[in-house]
Amino acid sequence: MVLNSKPTHTGVGLEILGLEPERGISSEQADCLRKLWLDAGVLVLRGVGTSPEVLLAVSRCFGELEPHPIEQFRLAGYPELILLSNEHGLTGPVYEFEGVATYGRIPWHTDLAFATTPNAGAVLRMVSRSEHGGQTAWIDTAMAWEALDTELKRRIDGLEAKYIFSPDLEGMRFNKPEGRLLSGMQHQLPDYPPVAHPLVWVHPETGRHVLNLSTLNIQSILGLEEDDSDALIQTLIDHTLQPRFQYTHEWQNNDIIVWDNYRTMHMAWGHPANETRIVQRSTIRGTTKMGRELTAPGGRAPDEPL
Ligand SMILES: [Fe+2]
Repeated sequence: MVLNSKPTHTGVGLEILGLEPERGISSEQADCLRKLWLDAGVLVLRGVGTSPEVLLAVSRCFGELEPHPIEQFRLAGYPELILLSNEHGLTGPVYEFEGVATYGRIPWHTDLAFATTPNAGAVLRMVSRSEHGGQTAWIDTAMAWEALDTELKRRIDGLEAKYIFSPDLEGMRFNKPEGRLLSGMQHQLPDYPPVAHPLVWVHPETGRHVLNLSTLNIQSILGLEEDDSDALIQTLIDHTLQPRFQYTHEWQNNDIIVWDNYRTMHMAWGHPANETRIVQRSTIRGTTKMGRELTAPGGRAPDEPL
C-alpha cells in the first residue's frame, strides 16, 4: 500500500494519510491518488500544502492543469494557479447575510456548469484561513443519484437542463440565499451563451451516473412546462442537498482538497468581508464535451418561445 486513507466523518470523501509531498510524490503514489479521487470524489490532505510548488505537484497527479483565462486572477509567477484573496481588496460581490457583510459565498454548484466542457476537477490550498466562516462543502452527486427511487431515475434519464453563467447570485432560480447585495462584481467578465447538459451525467472516466444540478446555474428542463420543470428541479435539489451526501471542511492553513468536478457539487460559505482569507487553486482540465450551446442565431435560445 503506497498510501493510506480513511473516510471523512460523514463518509463523503476520503482523507489521505501518509503523503509527504514536500519530499516528492512517487509515480505509484500519484497513480494511487488518482484512483482514490475517482473512487471517492473528494480527497482531503491535511496540513501538507506548504507551498505553491506542493500544490502544483499534487494537482499534476490528476491531469493536465488549465490556466485561468483571465490573467489577473492568476497567482503571479505561477500561471497554472489561481489566487483567491481579499488581502488587497475585493473582486467579487459582497452580500449581507444575517447582519454580516459576507465575501465569497458561492451556493452549491459545479464549476463551469455553464460551459460545454466543464473542468474535470480542481484543487484548493488554504494559505491563510479567515478567523470566522470560510468553510467549503461538497456533495457527492453519484451517491445522491444512487439514492433516488427507481421511478424517478427512469423519469429523469435522458432529460436535458438549461444552465446559465451566473457572475453573482442574481440569476439563481432555485435555492437563492436570502441576502442583500452590498457591492457587486468588481471586474467585467465575459458573457457566455446558455448551455444544455443532460440532467444525469455519465461520468466520462468511471461510467457512474451523477446528478447534474448546479443550483447556481440551472434554469429549466428542456421540453417541460415551467411548473413541471420547476417542481422536478426542486424535488431533485431537495433530495441532493440532504446532509447525508455532504462533507463540510473546516479549514486549517496548508490543508489541500481535491475534488472530482463531474461527480460533486461544492459550495463556499464565505466569510466576513473584513477578515482576510487567502487560497490558491488549480483547475484540472476537462477533455470531455458534456453539453451543447443553446444560443441560436439572433441570440435566442432554441428552447425559449419567440
Ligand atoms: Fe467552484
